[in-house]
Amino acid sequence: MSRPGPGHVRGVRLLGTGACLPRRRLANTDLMTMMDTTDEWIVQRTGISTRHISDPDAGETTHDLGANALRDALVASHLSPNDLDLILCATMTGENNCPPVACMISQRLNAGRCGAMDLSAACCSWVYALNTAAALVKTGAYNTVGVVGVDRLSKHVLYSTEGRSTAILFGDGAGAAVIKATDDPSKGIIAQSMHSNGERWTDIFIPWQRRDIPSELEIPDSQIGKVHMNGAAVFKFAVSTFPDLIAETLEKAGLRADEVDMYVCHQSNARILKAARERFGLPEDKLYINIDRVGNTVSASVPLCLHELRTAGKIKDGQRVMFVAFGAGLTWGSSLWQL
Ligand code: COA
Repeated sequence: MSRPGPGHVRGVRLLGTGACLPRRRLANTDLMTMMDTTDEWIVQRTGISTRHISDPDAGETTHDLGANALRDALVASHLSPNDLDLILCATMTGENNCPPVACMISQRLNAGRCGAMDLSAACCSWVYALNTAAALVKTGAYNTVGVVGVDRLSKHVLYSTEGRSTAILFGDGAGAAVIKATDDPSKGIIAQSMHSNGERWTDIFIPWQRRDIPSELEIPDSQIGKVHMNGAAVFKFAVSTFPDLIAETLEKAGLRADEVDMYVCHQSNARILKAARERFGLPEDKLYINIDRVGNTVSASVPLCLHELRTAGKIKDGQRVMFVAFGAGLTWGSSLWQL
């Protein structure tokens, strides 16, 4: 693929995808042995029945999971790690603050001297990373980019009654996609958006020390280093933001909701997803839900859905697909593709 010259417009193809879920499953019935909760309460409020929990001592660190997902995505793309110009890793739960998880993934895959960096926008990270990567390819700066989404939120929740409102929600996992330049300018992003509202950062955050916690919030020492979430406020935000974001993206693209073949949405709560589907009158099979099996996997959520849909033959070349996410920050973003 040549670099674009004057007047040459290139497109971007979404090639292969990959995923990696930790071996251990934690069902609602397992949680019932650790905290005061019930399977019925969790299923009713969230739609989640089980989630995967990683064991870093058994080869399931954040970079292990991310590397496995990207390796699969490269195989599905018929490419080798050396073909990558850049690895963009969407995550907020790397083992260390430094180096970037992307560099550790690069080392695992033997990806040579390609660029490698992390991008953090909480549960929106992968959608933000995909928009960023596609823009870099579209301009001709890079040809082939691996976009990984990986998180291990299990290390930031308390598996006890004290942490039950978040322990039930989150699961670990990784997903990845490879994008590549093409001479077909019709392929790539049709419309996208990235938003935030920093005034609401305290709605979901992970404090590292007491001075990170605003004085008006009462958080015990046992919850330092753990996710603090105002569940009801986030729920309200998401129920209105999700459909508004879909509407905004459709309007930018000049498309109706039924002209998009598949909506691949961040899996935060089945009730939030169903509300969005109903607002646009979409049939069940157009807005994919896998939260029942994996919970909320943060940055991995959207690429995991993409991988499942792609391998099931439900997302194909030629289709229009919208990726949608929201999360801590608060952040929200979308990416509408012509595949
Ligand atoms: N099992 C049983 N009871 C639980 C419980 C659990 N796991 N977690 C909380 N409760 C209790 C609470 O203690 C509370 O009891 P109280 O009324 O005696 O104080 C009661 O259930 C209601 O709690 P509340 O937090 O108001 O429940 P909710 O209906 O808001 O549901 C969430 C909680 C977390 C499921 C819901 O708020 C949610 O999904 N929010 C969005 C979160 C999200 O998407 N986060 C990720 C963003 S990317």
